[in-house]
Amino acid sequence: MYEATVSAPVNIACIKYWGKRDTKLILPTNSSLSVTLDQDHLRSTTTSRADESFEKGDRLWLNGKEETIKQGGRLGVCISELRGWRKIEEDKDSSLPKLSQWPLRIASYNNFPTAAGLASSASGLAALVASLAKLFQLPQNASQLSIIARQGSGSACRSLFGGYVAWREGTEKDGSDSLAEQIESETHWPEIHALICVVSDAKKGTSSTSGMQRTVETSTLLKERLNLVPSRMNDISQAIRSKNFEKFAILTMKDSNSFHSVCLDTFPPIFYLNDVSKSIIQVIEELNRSSGKIIAAYTFDAGPNAVIYSLQENIGKVIGAIKKFFPTEEDNQVDPFNTKPEELPVD
Ligand code: PMV
Repeated sequence: MYEATVSAPVNIACIKYWGKRDTKLILPTNSSLSVTLDQDHLRSTTTSRADESFEKGDRLWLNGKEETIKQGGRLGVCISELRGWRKIEEDKDSSLPKLSQWPLRIASYNNFPTAAGLASSASGLAALVASLAKLFQLPQNASQLSIIARQGSGSACRSLFGGYVAWREGTEKDGSDSLAEQIESETHWPEIHALICVVSDAKKGTSSTSGMQRTVETSTLLKERLNLVPSRMNDISQAIRSKNFEKFAILTMKDSNSFHSVCLDTFPPIFYLNDVSKSIIQVIEELNRSSGKIIAAYTFDAGPNAVIYSLQENIGKVIGAIKKFFPTEEDNQVDPFNTKPEELPVD
């Protein structure tokens, strides 16, 4: 038996991917750029095994529950493409065991709630592709593997790298140049932090797949957005390279707003932000205004949960502002006689 285990992290886009020009190959209508979160507690870990003696057919478990692998479905495509690459190596070197012909058993775990709107499909598919690539000892690099991860779930292609990652939309019809590449590594800008505010852990109402399709079919605003993205990709890459937080933050917030406007312009409209999400935007706006400079940036994916980027020196201030406006039960238990008035939570 051969076995490989790999874990992959969640990534959060600053320039959002929204819209497919090819739904089968998952080719996007625009390039996107994300930050890979490097916390240990937001990861998917996948173990893949190949054994000649396994009963015929591949099987996969997600968080202990068996999922069906449909031929031609997203998982099925990723597995068969990687098998194909393994077969090429076996044909070149006859001494290699014929893993490409053996049944697979794959088990994947997320160490965070799968349905919490925290991009579990990105880390999950990236971990699956990376673990099979390791099992098959494939020579392809992470960018080449991202072409396959992309076909599992678009944003998964960016989770094969740490740090700051661009997914280039590409121009080829077969998707061979629609791949992810690292802009800067995880050690480049360690001062940047991401604060995740789970507004709701309910499963999202409109899936990204059906939402994107509806947007491409009905939104006229999408065309405007697509004109804006190329310069945003350049500008944010430059901001990251030069560690210009203000520039990074403005582009991140503008692109999140642009994405959610396009969702609203979709017909029937898609509402991912709820009232709490909108209040978080106002709290961050007010925090930036009262600080006299931009110290925090919000961004929202296909759900109400906020991710707030801030530099280490300001993260305490950001947490303070969020806690002040959205106190937890614990925060409410402050002793008013031992607390300065400005530290009291506001209703
Ligand atoms: O990869 P999907 O199909 O889960 O789509 C992700 C879309 C967004 O999270 C909204 C944006 C992004 O670029 O991650």
